[in-house]
Order: sequence, then structure tokens, then C-alpha cells
Amino acid sequence: MIIDWYPGHMKKAKEQIAEALPKIDLIIEVLDARLPVSSANPILAYLRRDKPCIKVLNKQDLADDAVTREWVRYFDRQQNVSAIPLEAKERRSANALLKLGRKMVPGRGIRGLKPLRVMVAGIPNVGKSTLINTMAGKKIARVGDKPAITTCHQQVDLRNGILLNDTPGLLWPKLDDQAGARHLAASGAIGENAYDTSSVAVATIAELSASYPNLLKQRYKLPELPETSQMVLEEIGRRRGCLVSGGEVDLHRAAELFLRELRDGKIGRISLERPPMTPSGTD
Ligand code: G4P
Repeated sequence: MIIDWYPGHMKKAKEQIAEALPKIDLIIEVLDARLPVSSANPILAYLRRDKPCIKVLNKQDLADDAVTREWVRYFDRQQNVSAIPLEAKERRSANALLKLGRKMVPGRGIRGLKPLRVMVAGIPNVGKSTLINTMAGKKIARVGDKPAITTCHQQVDLRNGILLNDTPGLLWPKLDDQAGARHLAASGAIGENAYDTSSVAVATIAELSASYPNLLKQRYKLPELPETSQMVLEEIGRRRGCLVSGGEVDLHRAAELFLRELRDGKIGRISLERPPMTPSGTD
């Protein structure tokens, strides 16, 4: 499935968010902890202005803990922003998130006071529906494996002082930056017909060879990494029996296998993006 965020959709989504924002006290922006830059859409920062925002670094179970901690520090320095890493399915995570939300918007969200009006926003497949369902304690949003199916239009009273408005928080992925688009593809955030599987796998292997070489070696039992990323992929295919008749490696199948294992966390906890270097002495 190709994501069909043609300009008409983008314009409508932007208008809906702008229209909803005056009645929202807190934005929960769901990001993928493995790629917090590419899984964000800067349009939200533009629309929200100074409104309090929690950056949820979701899927923390798949990301490198040390890098996620760096991201939290990085986002916490921004005005009216707090970041929290979590796993959207965990009730405990959702409770911690709402506690942080109440702290960021004093005077709301506690029984007897005005409700805290919350909007969940993010690109497809970052875990918005999962998080909404966990916060609500029941299934109110559809969770799916294919991008761009979050279509719920609800306002839900969580009966704990929180009024959850999950619409219209659907942002579109930015695909104009090649490296970012590749990270989105590698994470599974964009439909598989929208990119070339082998190229994404080879480029991702190149990144992992630089930042997580040992995880690659361990997973695929490679004493040393072959010279090029293409050769690494071929070796993975050979070892996993992704062959065509004649014994040649089926690169496409090898790439699919590699990306599936990456997404499932089987290679290890991997972050594809790190915060920009901050000058020393700013802490
Ligand atoms: P969306 O509304 O933003 O589009 O995302 P959604 O909740 O549908 O989640 C997309 C996929 O990400 C789902 O997997 C969901 O289970 C998974 N997911 C959400 N949060 C987390 C998390 O914290 N950690 C991990 N590892 N996965 C998470 P799926 O395979 O598409 O669906 P399902 O088979 O799990 O139901």
C-alpha cells in the first residue's frame, strides 16, 4: 500500500488540527523512539506554538536505551516540552504519561477541577491507537499493521479528569529527506510498495555496520562483516536459505527477512537517529 498523503489530505489534516487546537490543553505527540526526527512532522511544532507538548518516545522496547535517554534530555530543553519514553501497551506507561500531563498543565485534570483536554498526534504506525486504547483502558481506536488506517473520530472522557480527543491528530510522514524516508521505511512506518526493499535493507545495514556492528555479527553469526553492505545482505541471505535455483541469493527475500527481524527487535535494540551534538557546557 502506498501512503496517499496527497496535498488535499495534508491541507485537510492541517486545517483540522488548527481548528481543534484552541480547545486542547496538551498535545501528546507520538514519535518512534528509534527515529524521533523522521517520525515527527514539523508542521505540528508550527501549529502548536507554545501549547504544552509531551513527546512520547514510543516503542522504547525496540530502541537503544542510552540513545533514548539522550533524546529525553534533548527534548526536555525545549520550551513547554517534556519527553517520556514508553511502550504504548503498558498501563503503567500510560499512567506516567497522564501524571506528567497534569504536571505540565496545572489547574486541570484532577477530579473537581476542569478536565485536561488532550490530543494525541503523530504519523501513521507510531502507536497512537495503541496508546489511546491503553489510556482509555479499552479498545476505542483501531490498531493495525498497515500504515494510515487510524480513522477514529472520538472524544473520550477517561473519567479521571482527562478528556481525550484523538482527532484530528493524524500527521503525514515527511518523505522529502532521503535518509529520513529510509528510516521510516526500515521501521515499517511506510507501506512496502512505496520503497525498494533491497535498497532500504542495504542502506540500513550500512548504518548498523557503523553503529551496531556487534549486533549484526551476533544475529547472523558473522565472524567479521563482509566488505560492503550488499555483501552483508548476500551473506545473510545465504545463511538463511534465501536462495533461487542455481544457488544464487534472492536479495529481495533476504532484504525482507532482514527488515522483518529489525522491526521485531530480533537484531537487538537499535536507534537509527541520535540527537544533534550539543555544545558542551549547555547542561
Ligand atoms: P498508529 O495508530 O499510530 O497508526 O499505530 P498503531 O497503534 O496501530 O501501532 C502500529 C504498530 O505498532 C502495531 O503493531 C502496534 O502493536 C505496534 N506498537 C505500538 N506501540 C508499540 C510499542 O511500544 N512497542 C512495540 N514493539 N510495538 C508497538 P502491529 O503489528 O501493526 O499490530 P498488532 O499485531 O500488534 O496489533
